[in-house]
Amino acid sequence: MFILAIIVISIVFFAFISIVYSTIKNGISPMPTSPKVKKVLVVNLPSHSVTQIAELGAGWGTLAFQLTKKYPSATITAFENSLIPYTFMVIRKFLFSQNNLIVSRKNFYKADFSNYHLIVCYLYPDAMTRLEKQFHKQLTKETIVISHTFALPNRKPNKTIIANDLYQTKIYFYYYF
Ligand SMILES: C[S@@+](CC[C@H](N)C(=O)[O-])C[C@H]1O[C@@H](n2cnc3c(N)ncnc32)[C@H](O)[C@@H]1O
Repeated sequence: MFILAIIVISIVFFAFISIVYSTIKNGISPMPTSPKVKKVLVVNLPSHSVTQIAELGAGWGTLAFQLTKKYPSATITAFENSLIPYTFMVIRKFLFSQNNLIVSRKNFYKADFSNYHLIVCYLYPDAMTRLEKQFHKQLTKETIVISHTFALPNRKPNKTIIANDLYQTKIYFYYYF
């Protein structure tokens, strides 16, 4: 019993340290999208067919798993470089046999988005500044970028929706055509 308690405490401690380390390194914690914002975002996802979707910084999979349901015939790549949320998503994918989801530990700044039709993110201001340059270089075909809470700093959104939550969270839509 004592040994088991030591093992459990060690795992919890390791998970905690790992999350703190990734949060400092990434500049953002794996804070999930709130249920209210998630609901509004999912209702407003594009209804036309898309085949390649990316979620940048997928955390625990809150949005990525919704995307797999909304677009069953698309492939959704969930980029998450923090070990514990990444492992959680891998286990969740396995348990629910979510075959149209790819869980990737790749740093999304090193990814090529040119073949994605839809990109979803909930990040932080510095990431949006950096991604704006990356999108400008890579998104030369038709791609829709949806970001909630944080906007791209220099690009005017094509559409903005306000979720009726406590913070009146804004969901920004950018059409790269
Ligand atoms: C605020 S959370 C969003 C979680 C999820 N998208 C949601 O809406 O519920 C942002 C996530 O982005 C991840 N992240 C930040 N920078 C990253 C990078 N360069 N590559 C991969 N993941 C990153 C963080 O580890 C964190 O889990």
